[in-house]
Amino acid sequence: MEIRQNISLKPYNTFGIDVKAKYFAEYNSVTELKKLISSEVFCSNRHFHIGSGSNLLFLNDYDGLILHSQIKEIEKTGEDEEFIFLRAGSGMVWDDFVAYCVSNNYYGVENLSLIPGEIGASAVQNIGAYGMEVQDVIFSVEAIETATLQNRIFSRKECRYGYRKSIFKEELRGQYIITHVSFRLRKQPAFKLDYQHLKEAVTERGDINLNNIRGTVISIRQSKLPDPAINGNAGSFFMNPVIPAGKFEELQRVYLAMPHYPVSQSEVKVPAGWLIEQCGLKGKSFGRVGVHSKQALVIINLGNATGQEVADLAALIMENVWQKFGIEIRPEVNFI
Ligand code: EPU
Repeated sequence: MEIRQNISLKPYNTFGIDVKAKYFAEYNSVTELKKLISSEVFCSNRHFHIGSGSNLLFLNDYDGLILHSQIKEIEKTGEDEEFIFLRAGSGMVWDDFVAYCVSNNYYGVENLSLIPGEIGASAVQNIGAYGMEVQDVIFSVEAIETATLQNRIFSRKECRYGYRKSIFKEELRGQYIITHVSFRLRKQPAFKLDYQHLKEAVTERGDINLNNIRGTVISIRQSKLPDPAINGNAGSFFMNPVIPAGKFEELQRVYLAMPHYPVSQSEVKVPAGWLIEQCGLKGKSFGRVGVHSKQALVIINLGNATGQEVADLAALIMENVWQKFGIEIRPEVNFI
């Protein structure tokens, strides 16, 4: 464990924004993390914990300490007739975890294949895709409170999960560092194919089984989402807005084809990508940034863009959607 200085964060954010961190440190164990938290540098600087930087937008150099977990272990902690319990380190790459589950015939995360990021961030962000969210399989989350160095285990309920949200992003933001996440996965086949497009694509490719679902999700994602190695991006830039049912009915009279998903009796979720496309922004570029041509929810770095240029395009998109639909869309990406 070493605290390095003046480190470029370009390899540590999928937008590929070239900013620097005053200090940067990675740790391999809870013991090393505790040493870091007790260090002079930690105590006298602000800190920010990153995962694989796939949901971040750096606007400026970071004048503090950036932390990154290298705890990558995975272990079975229990099982019964129905379930297997797995405990994974926060630094493990999310998709390596999905691959491990699929190859061992554990059910419950296959729809979340190829989502960028790491285990720790998955539990902060409540990642989701194709009708599944990570909260569906999280059993508990282990974290260290930075102010006291105390270990705490959060039950799933205590994590207060919602759509792309958790207690770690809200009330306890910045106060805990996640070290491990425990998952409860099914040992018997149980698939979630309510998402019509996924179901059709899976059946077209073959039987309904874990490998085929994983393969199908990977190919859908690869066809829609840009490769960060070519064009920096952070996946969906905005969350899908949830609007009152009355407002939706009003809009639907004008926009008959408006896709939508009921959330409750009184609320409807509308895909932000569709709203942005209707504003005529899909595939448009603005200097060194642009709106992805295959999925309007994704902002891309066309080469050497600054974080501010991305933020300016995001503001322009939000303003266009507001003017056309009277709907406020909000970034899913965290601005640092
Ligand atoms: N749509 C358009 N134009 C676009 C994009 C989408 O008309 O440019 C329409 C689609 O035709 C479809 C609807 O919007 O009717 C939904 O599109 P899609 O299935 O691509 O999903 P999404 O709602 O845009 C969400 C997640 C993705 C996840 C997919 C699949 C959020 C913010 N995003 O996107 O997650 O992969 O569903 O479940 O909820 C991510 O978070 O980074 C991410 C990629």
